[in-house]
Amino acid sequence: MLQRSQAMNRSCLAVVLAAGEGTRMRSAQAKVLHELGRRSLLAHVLEVATKAGANDIAVVVGPDRAAVAAEVQRVAPKAQVFEQKERRGTAHAVLAAKKAIAKGADDILVMFGDTPLLRAENLQGLRQALAQGASIAVLGFLPADPTGYGRLVRKGNELIAIREERDASAAEKQIALCNGGLMALAGASALKILERIDNASAQGEYYLTDAVAIAREMGLKAVALEAEEDDVRGINTKAQLAEAEAVLQKRLRAAAMEAGVSMMAPETVFLSADTKFGKDVTIEPNVVFGPGVTVEDGALIRAFSHLEGAHVGKGARVGPFARLRPGADLGVDVHIGNFVEVKQASIEAGAKANHLAYIGDAHVGAGANIGAGTITCNYDGVAKHRTDIGKGAFIGSNSALVAPVKIGDGAYVGSGSVVTEDVPAGALALGRARQAIKEGWAKRLKELKSLGKNLVRTKPAKKKSK
Ligand code: UD1
Ligand code: MG
Repeated sequence: MLQRSQAMNRSCLAVVLAAGEGTRMRSAQAKVLHELGRRSLLAHVLEVATKAGANDIAVVVGPDRAAVAAEVQRVAPKAQVFEQKERRGTAHAVLAAKKAIAKGADDILVMFGDTPLLRAENLQGLRQALAQGASIAVLGFLPADPTGYGRLVRKGNELIAIREERDASAAEKQIALCNGGLMALAGASALKILERIDNASAQGEYYLTDAVAIAREMGLKAVALEAEEDDVRGINTKAQLAEAEAVLQKRLRAAAMEAGVSMMAPETVFLSADTKFGKDVTIEPNVVFGPGVTVEDGALIRAFSHLEGAHVGKGARVGPFARLRPGADLGVDVHIGNFVEVKQASIEAGAKANHLAYIGDAHVGAGANIGAGTITCNYDGVAKHRTDIGKGAFIGSNSALVAPVKIGDGAYVGSGSVVTEDVPAGALALGRARQAIKEGWAKRLKELKSLGKNLVRTKPAKKKSK
């Protein structure tokens, strides 16, 4: 038996088919740009191709699919994009990338852009079958409902043909093992096989699946491997997208817990494909992680928090009910409490904003204390401005810091201040109305009420002053 490393020494081209119209998604957006775990379907497929050792990638897109090409460029800048001008079937689509195939990689993997839950192991298994002498290897699965799938016709260990449901006999329709859509072809014979496929099918399309029978005619060997249904789940509708999301979320949660994250209700925690956790992180129920979040060792994310594009430092505490937006960067042991929103702001070690605050476009120095109700007024209706709060500063509750503004190290801002000018280090800034005291006012109020008068004026009435 060949070792996996031997299979991996072979060069590999992945051809990703993404020219489908995706009509059933009922969306203005291309199907492969829909997201799972906040990453496009296409990005998932490109990532697994790379993980399985594809050193060259060709993506076949439909006409007018600039957005799909842009996503390819973003995720896999080295991948080549080919256009399939007319949608004439899966084999026709693969041949749109003929130039890439003709370069002669040892292994050619044909993948569908709408099958994002594949695992690298699935692809490596197919590549291993090629390394062991097969010319075609196909990934089969046993669907709960086989309707619509091609059936894998086998004889002993060999695959004889794939029959599309529309072309299948009643007996062939009884076959439980179906085509998951993933095919590996040995580079040496791939083009010869693909170019012999015709469009004599029930649909008048060029079926990639015909490659198996053609290979057999040429005296070449085809085999089928088996995968879990979840791995080859294809997405055609929004309902299937949601089902696939559930599968992915389960995998992401399991991987996070495996890596040492504690979750008391994992089924209520939603992760992104790129969420990163250190050790001993605890996540309370009902937390959503958007893309681009890193949480360092020992941090605690409390219930009902929403994080996106944020970095949470070691031992930091976030929530409950906190919102970290893109660019929120929390240092070691920072506390961000309930109903606090942080955006584009770095908050240094030990600083605290425990209740009801907005910190945007700001820097908060180490150990600073941001009182309840503090708002950085970062937007003047035209542009955004920065607020810089020095280390150890104390911002009294309900203060508005009107940016651009600097609060020096160790300075105090009195509660309820509207701060429009820089505050020097160590100073106290007060920017609020002076308090007035009216001695005996409450007693007078009660006396007036007892006389049946409702209106109480703090200024003497005009008549009286005459
Ligand atoms: C295909 C397989 C079927 C398998 C099923 C698994 C064929 C003929 N049939 O059927 O055996 O059980 O997948 O999900 O291969 N595409 C193009 N250009 C085209 C046609 C298709 O790029 O002209 C792309 C689509 O975007 C999609 C993929 O190829 O990513 C598969 O096409 P689809 O029409 O979904 O094939 P199925 O009928 O599902
Ligand atoms: Mg399909």
